[in-house]
Amino acid sequence: MAEGDAEDIDRGVAAARRAFEDGPWRRFTPFQRQAILLRLADLVEERFDEIAMLDTLDMGGPISATRARKGRAVGLLRYYAGQATTIHGDTIANSQAGEIFSFTLKEPIGVVGAINPWNGPFGMAVWKIAPALAAGCTIVLKPAEQAPLSPLWLGELCLEAGIPSGVVNVVNGPGRTAGAALAAHPDVNKVAFTGSTATGQAIIRASAGNVKRVSLELGGKSPDIVFDDADLDAAVPGAAMAVFANSGQICSAGTRLFVQRGIYDEFVERIAAFAKQLRVGNPLDPDIQLGPLVSQGQLERVTGYLESGKAQGARAVSGGGRILREDLAEGYFVEPTVFTNVRDEMKIAREEIFGPVISALPFDTAEEAVARGNATDYGLGSGVWTQNLTNAHRVAKGLRAGSVWVNCYQAMDPAVPFGGYKMSGYGRESGREHIEEFLETKAVWIKTG
Ligand code: NAI
Ligand code: MG
Repeated sequence: MAEGDAEDIDRGVAAARRAFEDGPWRRFTPFQRQAILLRLADLVEERFDEIAMLDTLDMGGPISATRARKGRAVGLLRYYAGQATTIHGDTIANSQAGEIFSFTLKEPIGVVGAINPWNGPFGMAVWKIAPALAAGCTIVLKPAEQAPLSPLWLGELCLEAGIPSGVVNVVNGPGRTAGAALAAHPDVNKVAFTGSTATGQAIIRASAGNVKRVSLELGGKSPDIVFDDADLDAAVPGAAMAVFANSGQICSAGTRLFVQRGIYDEFVERIAAFAKQLRVGNPLDPDIQLGPLVSQGQLERVTGYLESGKAQGARAVSGGGRILREDLAEGYFVEPTVFTNVRDEMKIAREEIFGPVISALPFDTAEEAVARGNATDYGLGSGVWTQNLTNAHRVAKGLRAGSVWVNCYQAMDPAVPFGGYKMSGYGRESGREHIEEFLETKAVWIKTG
């Protein structure tokens, strides 16, 4: 893998700028952009087995899970293909004297820098590229250095689908060189970033130089609230996989599990039993449910949190450490872990771990659950499990988070906006809001009198 640096970012941005100013992409009709995005969707659908294999090899997601992401990747492309034909301004009645007509035009913002993490390499690359393309923008994508393979291939498929050369540029390289250069680049009009909150803050600072637009999807410490009237047969696996899926490497994972006191002991026992029967192992084995963490660095980070939890008095009722079984001892495997005896102020209950670690916390009333659920700098995901309509509505309104899932977790759809409150970022991905992230609004006044 070539290691791109600031000079390669310069070349990528120059190519994207040329393609934006002189190339045909933004002059294509909406139908033409739609047709090409649909062709790209077909190519992705045809090649998806290989794409899934690349992601599994790169970041360790179980092959069953990376293959299952086909519907989402293809669906995103087809949704944004449709969005390409829906862009429009408004005609606006004004109150000026004389005959003067006012309307707005929607125009592509220009060159977009996209910076991605490693936890869903292909889907995340599609999620950044497709709406920008639908809007008529050109792009420089800087994938995560841990998982560069499938995003590079997406770049090739873009060419094969008929997207003109220079419109999509993929530059691999580390964050501190290539990523930082893209974030600061004076000729980039917008940066779309997904990753840690600390890097998001660096990107905001870097954006000041040319006042580029920024959208950020950052970390989380999402509350998942189980009431004593919940359907436990659904809530136990639902709340477990809200954290353990992708070995916990999901920004909106419901890692703070609030359980109403009357069912706390039973619930903890059942979720620990669920954790213990999960099949962790070689991600190429189709029967495996959880693979390793992405890297040595992530392994150290997660096991560091496990040690911190124990040192602060938490008790692991399942898991609690690295998996040292002979066939897995050389990989970055961590046991699905459920901690009890956790207090809200402990490090494991406050900071994003990005590993398969649940903190189970008892609560008494709905008001208390909402208040403690909101007592965090983050606001990305959240969950509620209850059969009581009043609880469901009150808690859904009370939680300060970009998504609330009731009696489910992590439902996603290309048409439904996703994003954060507070330090989980700003801007929305998916839905009508997403395309707006890549558009400028121009007001035009025409004196007709
Ligand atoms: P990161 O946020 O540093 O990296 C994400 C992307 O940003 C990568 O492409 C990286 O190369 C790039 N990057 C890094 N520094 C940059 C800079 N100064 N300017 C521009 N781009 C830069 O995340 P990292 O280091 O991979 O993981 C650290 C922790 O962050 C994880 O353990 C996890 O807790 C959290 N994280 C959260 C994610 C989320 O979706 N909420 C995704 C990835 C990581
Ligand atoms: Mg980093």
